[in-house]
Amino acid sequence: MISDLAFRLAQWHLTHGRHDLPWQHQGPYATWVSEVMLQQTQVATVIPYYQRFMDRFPTPAALSDAPMDEVLSHWAGLGYYARARNLHHAAKQVQHEFAGELPDTLGALMSLKGIGRSTAGAILSLGFEKYGVIQDGNVRRVLARLFAISGDLTSANAQKRLWALATDLTPKEGKDAAIHTQAMMDLGALVCTKSKPTCDRCPLVSDCSAYQQDLVHRLPEPKTRKVKQTREWVVLQLVNTANETFVVKRPPKGIWGGLYAPPISESRSALAKELGLELADVEEVCELRHAFSHFSVNLQLHRIMGLSSVPRVPGKWVDLRTFEGGLPAPIYRLLQENMT
Ligand code: ADE
Repeated sequence: MISDLAFRLAQWHLTHGRHDLPWQHQGPYATWVSEVMLQQTQVATVIPYYQRFMDRFPTPAALSDAPMDEVLSHWAGLGYYARARNLHHAAKQVQHEFAGELPDTLGALMSLKGIGRSTAGAILSLGFEKYGVIQDGNVRRVLARLFAISGDLTSANAQKRLWALATDLTPKEGKDAAIHTQAMMDLGALVCTKSKPTCDRCPLVSDCSAYQQDLVHRLPEPKTRKVKQTREWVVLQLVNTANETFVVKRPPKGIWGGLYAPPISESRSALAKELGLELADVEEVCELRHAFSHFSVNLQLHRIMGLSSVPRVPGKWVDLRTFEGGLPAPIYRLLQENMT
């Protein structure tokens, strides 16, 4: 039986939830792609990427057959590229192990690369309209307030409790589970927001422990964050006499894995050694700061014009105005704003 709380949430969703997102009611593949894109990126940013991605890779088979470079170039700008690499890998798993159709059980979904318990729950409920439980950041915040859970929500104990609560709250019937999943996400995104939550518009306020104890602004408790370290990276733009820039394909694992970028290292001397070049007449063009999740970098663009020697590492010379191979967004910005 659907609980009173889940019922009120579903009623709220009918009039106040989001019903026009492009991945809604498009089946499990659309849910999967959108959920992966939405893992670390806002809805408004994701929408155009999602549309381009689905136009080019409309099925798991199309994604599985596509070259990795093309997948990455459709991802360039969304960041966290391991998501794209995992998606591509998992599409091949779907193709080879599940005859091209996404499986509809929790265990089988979680056997696919990059799909964790919450993404699998979202695919089951939103994509298949089956019973599936989610627990993303928005849902975690809603639950932490509703049940006044203090402390670090990522601890094993808190996780166990949150999953148990989310499981209890989710209706067992598939269609109801789908509505519930979207409604929890929407409540977290639209009402029970991190700052300035609008409790007077919340359908669950009468059950909310944090509200009753005046703890809404204190929960969930922030994680104690370490100060981010800043690293210095030299981005060396080598430009030949045809005004082409030398780019290398970055190693598949690690930062910007599989994307193209000019040679990057922590110092110019390290680059000189790596490339087997005498680095003379280097212009220090500008700097750009970029934050990753665990550290920041200060990208220093250094440039050599009219280079006639050949770097010792594999790479290619490209015209940046037409190159579509997939440059990391901060590198693209750095180069674009300082065109030769
Ligand atoms: N964030 C994660 N999944 C979402 C979805 N299906 N709709 C809106 N925001 C989301």
